[in-house]
Amino acid sequence: MSSDFKSILTENRLFEPSAEFKSKARISSMEDYQRLHAESLNDPDTFWTREASELTWQQPWTKVLDWQPPFAKWFVDAKLNVSENCVDRHVAAGKGDKPAILWEGEPGDTRTISYAELQTEVATFAAVLLNHGIKAGDRVIIYMPMVPEAAIAMLATARIGAVHSVIFGGFSSESIKDRLLDSGATAVITADGGYRRGKVVPLKDNVDTALKNAPHVTTVIVLKRTGQNIAMQEGRDAWWHDETAKVTEGAPANGFDSEHPLFILYTSGSTGKPKGILHTSGGYLTGTYVSSKYIFDLREDDVYWCTADVGWITGHSYIVFGPLSNGATILMYEGAPDTPHQGRFWEIVEKYKVSILYTAPTAIRAFIKWGDDHVDKFDLSSLRLLGSVGEPINPEAWMWYHHKIGGGRCPIVDTWWQTETGSILITPLPGVTPTKPGTATLPFFGVDAAILDEDGKEVGPNEGGKLVIRKPWPSMLRTLYGDNDRYKEVYWSTYENIYLAGDSARRDDDGYFWIMGRIDDVLNVSGHRLGTAEVESALVSHESVAEAAVVGRPDELKGQAVVAFVTVKGGVDPTPELAAALKKHVANVIGAIARPDDIRFAAGLPKTRSGKIMRRLLKEICAGGVIKGDTTTLEDLNVIASLQASGKDED
Ligand code: WT7
Repeated sequence: MSSDFKSILTENRLFEPSAEFKSKARISSMEDYQRLHAESLNDPDTFWTREASELTWQQPWTKVLDWQPPFAKWFVDAKLNVSENCVDRHVAAGKGDKPAILWEGEPGDTRTISYAELQTEVATFAAVLLNHGIKAGDRVIIYMPMVPEAAIAMLATARIGAVHSVIFGGFSSESIKDRLLDSGATAVITADGGYRRGKVVPLKDNVDTALKNAPHVTTVIVLKRTGQNIAMQEGRDAWWHDETAKVTEGAPANGFDSEHPLFILYTSGSTGKPKGILHTSGGYLTGTYVSSKYIFDLREDDVYWCTADVGWITGHSYIVFGPLSNGATILMYEGAPDTPHQGRFWEIVEKYKVSILYTAPTAIRAFIKWGDDHVDKFDLSSLRLLGSVGEPINPEAWMWYHHKIGGGRCPIVDTWWQTETGSILITPLPGVTPTKPGTATLPFFGVDAAILDEDGKEVGPNEGGKLVIRKPWPSMLRTLYGDNDRYKEVYWSTYENIYLAGDSARRDDDGYFWIMGRIDDVLNVSGHRLGTAEVESALVSHESVAEAAVVGRPDELKGQAVVAFVTVKGGVDPTPELAAALKKHVANVIGAIARPDDIRFAAGLPKTRSGKIMRRLLKEICAGGVIKGDTTTLEDLNVIASLQASGKDED
């Protein structure tokens, strides 16, 4: 990438962690961070041996890392049981009575599960799996609502060395079928249904449809959640409660090789079929354990709430494996943030005295749009640390999160990572790093992040380029399931032995990393490359704007013209005058080069079900309106239809 990749947004606000937070934090000085970071890169054996030794291993490793690029093995020859680390070891340490999971259903039903109870549930369900002939290495699909049994199923498969692949409960039977075929799974764990926005999602029906042409699936275990009528196929389908009632002794937590596969998680590729990201046991657990400990500063009395679904990597790493391996109390919420009312999250924070909240920019922008009244009704004083993940957080959304939710006192960890990276790679440390709204700041331990140009040279300060990781890290993906060639091609073919993240980014004068957008989304306006994130953040900084997505449209003169899709805040009229004002606003904030050519007001933006804006679809709409690419991960197809119908606002 040439050096004309412009960074146009400047953000100078700086927020130091409070003296109060610092005084109690695990790591509390920049010198300590720098010393440990240097050690983790220069002497990874010492660093990772010290950290990984805090976990329970049934057999020690002979070597920390075996790196045959691009294939890594971590903690070679070691044996461990992941579920033992997340559950049994806390019971053994006398924490059996501590709540592991606080659960709130969408309709308001609740459960509390202690570590001792969780141990029984996991060992029992693991025995059910064994009774059904499921063995180590077999693939098991988990398609469930956000109920404790989703986590129990994940831990139970891990306990017997089976490989789970969780499919988000909002996905269709078509998505289940694709993933079933690719993974070769022989068992499915599901529920009759789940609650979402007051409606029942027909999970078992979706599974039945997907299984029509999948005779290799011999076991379907069904949790009763909603109680609606479903079909049970004799010989294949069994109820969770019947099967667990038969178990007299839970399954033991035998050790498996450190590189034994733990799970496959499918993530959408920009083209082609979903990629089956493969994670293994020892390195993944170490990565999620260590990052949870330092980044969320987990303490004995914390109530930790990550609002993701277990169907995403965020749910895997930061609801289940990371926090539970730390023995934390986690909160799980089944439903939507606006059911039955738009203050639901804040009601839950107040009720459970949540101290750590980890959520996504898309949710934060929705809260801003819904208005402060919903927040003001509740007491959020239990919060002490906030996190953000999934997209660049627009600086104005960051400021709102900081003031309105964090009361100005909570550090915000803006965590950059990917399904592929397994755990957080770029992030502030809450007791150390002065934060700036919109940047994930500095690399975590063990992470050698850099920004390179087309020739593989590191770019200078504030120049845009491609974000890469130059050294292997414990929780990295090991391959794409069944497709080593695609793994090499996607991540390792741009630069030799260097991991390509697929994001464009820059570093500022303090070395902080600013994600500018996905490489595929970069705009090229009159020969200047612009990241989407910066233009969008400029739009969101206008008082009338709730959300914005920026894409390029082919333009004879400029190469690409800037088209901005904008949703406005409640009560604002999307008039031509506002469109003109927004263009002017962007030109003022970041310069004429980024001035949008078109502003298109929309009622909603097309998003993936994990909340990421699908700019690719918007690009296709701009280029003529025919949607060619894969839309199976799109959250709401109606949004596309209305965007196509909306026409455009001529300049
Ligand atoms: C992509 C990975 C990581 C778990 C959830 C998403 C974007 C993620 C940030 C952040 C800017 C971010 C990147 C990345 N992203 N976190 N804090 N700041 N961008 O996982 O679906 O695999 O997506 O999400 O573009 O590459 P994923």
